[in-house]
Formats: sequence, structure tokens, C-alpha cells
Amino acid sequence: MNDSGSFWLPEAASTVAAEIDGLFYFVYWASAIIFVGVVAAMVYFAYKYRRRDPNDRPELVEESRLLEISWIVIPTILVLLVFTWGFQAYITLGTAPPNAYEIQGEAYSYGWSFVYPNGAETTDELNVPADRPVKINLSSREGDVIHSFFVPQFRVKQDVLPNRYSAVWFEANQTGTFELFCTEYCGTGHSAMIGDVNVMPQDEFDEWVDGAVLDEDAMSLAELGELQFQRNGCQGCHSIDGSDGVGPTMQGLHGRDRDLQDGRTVEADENYLRQMIVEPTSQVVEGYRAGIMPSFAHLDERQVTALVEYIKSLDDE
Ligand code: CUA
Repeated sequence: MNDSGSFWLPEAASTVAAEIDGLFYFVYWASAIIFVGVVAAMVYFAYKYRRRDPNDRPELVEESRLLEISWIVIPTILVLLVFTWGFQAYITLGTAPPNAYEIQGEAYSYGWSFVYPNGAETTDELNVPADRPVKINLSSREGDVIHSFFVPQFRVKQDVLPNRYSAVWFEANQTGTFELFCTEYCGTGHSAMIGDVNVMPQDEFDEWVDGAVLDEDAMSLAELGELQFQRNGCQGCHSIDGSDGVGPTMQGLHGRDRDLQDGRTVEADENYLRQMIVEPTSQVVEGYRAGIMPSFAHLDERQVTALVEYIKSLDDE
């Protein structure tokens, strides 16, 4: 089924979408019909019973039992219908099928990383097989804030909290690329906390995931640095193309003079870069806020050196 969406809803690309959309349109049309009916009756009565003469007096109106019963019973049925329907959809969304393919997802300020069962990793990109239930076990990085996982085309949304797991599942029923959003305001970079969900046929997915496992020991320092840069979510705040984000761009940073908030000017040499990874509040540059960037002192020596080498490799001409 190919559904290109409507004015109200984006295209539907998962198995639960039909149920959610059906409920949405039921509530929408019921509301629209009731709204038009109420407004039409109001206008009609206002006209019909308008005062024509200053001496007009209203007649006594007897209650109508039938009318009173109907305006209690009909809305009650409507509300119970919506409740039952919504509760069923809620149960469906909350219960992943036992054969679901599991992927671990981590949210951080400001990005997403995913780890597949064989250890392959992706950043700001989630690859999944089509026509198979996929369960994402989500959590927010320790010490980070609440984010929310939202793929509009799949009609799934799940809050992501630090220090606990939450899960979301879906079965994508068409291949292609869909947008992943953070839908919980989480800070300056919230609007940039987006990613792609790539849905591929099962055999293509298997091929990708088998080839995506990385051998970190065999990488050059700059390559390992790039991996660490993505894995630790650095690109959420630091661009590598010269554009300014929450933090300064990494392009051409190495060797540049930095005007610090304490009035000093230092050169961004290897020691400075290293210092700012390990202790980011120590030499904050004018124009940026201290305390947004967490310390990465938990990285091992090779990883920190790799990051420094990677930043050095981003020098512009
Ligand atoms: Cu993360 Cu908004």
C-alpha cells in the first residue's frame, strides 16, 4: 500500500499507522460533524427565536425526556468508542512482538546513536529491515536530559530518559528513508536533533549489518577519532564544515588563536584540544557558554589522541 499522506498526516509507513490514522480520522470527522451541527442549530435558533417585538415573552418550555436521554447516551457511546479504540492501539504500541529484532538506542544532547546485535553502530541514522518488527531499547546518556524518539511516518513516539530503559517498536512496511525527530524540548540543539531511519529489504539489511562491524585496532588515529567524534555525539554541537553551532566548529580549529573568557589568548594546539576534551570548562572561548559540554575524561588515552588527530585532520587550506 502506498500512502502519500494527507493535509493532516504524513505518509503512513508502518503496520500500526492504519489503526492510529483510523482513530484520528474518526475523532476528526466526529468533531467536524458535531461542530457544524451545533453551529448550524445555534444560528438557526438564534434566527427563528429572535425578538420581533419589545413585548415578546418566551413560552414555557417543557423538558423532553427523549432529548435529554439522547444527549447523554450518544456522547457517552462516542467517548467509550474512542476510549476502547485508543486503548487497543495503546496496547498494540506498548507490546513488542516477541520475535522483534532488537536495537539499542541512545539519545544525548544532541544526537542519536544505535547499536545493533552484532556490535555495529550508527549515529543519527537508524537502519532497519522492512516487514519485520523492530524493537528499539532506548535510554538517554547518563547525566543527560529527557529526549523523545519520534518517527512521524511510523506513528510512534517514546520518551527517552536517563538512567532507565524505555522501548518502542514498529514494523516498517515500506522501504525508504524516513525522518527521526527528537520531540521533547531538550536544549539549544533540540531542533537539530534529527536523524534518518533507513528501511531496507531484509537481505540488504543483513548485508549492511554484517559489513558494518568496525575493527578499532586496525584504524588510523584520525579514523578512530572520527568514530569517537560521532560516537560521543560531538557533531551535535560542533560542526566540521565551518558553520557555528552550540559550540565552535572543528574545521580549521587546530592552530587558531582563541580569545578566552578570562581575557587570555591561547593557540588551539594539541594540548589545548586535549585539555578541552578532558576538562571543557577550563579554557572557554569568548562567546560560548561554559558547562554545556560535558567532560570526556572517561575516554582512554588512545581515544583522546585520536580525537585530537581527527580535529587536526579537519584543517582548512
Ligand atoms: Cu533531544 Cu529535543
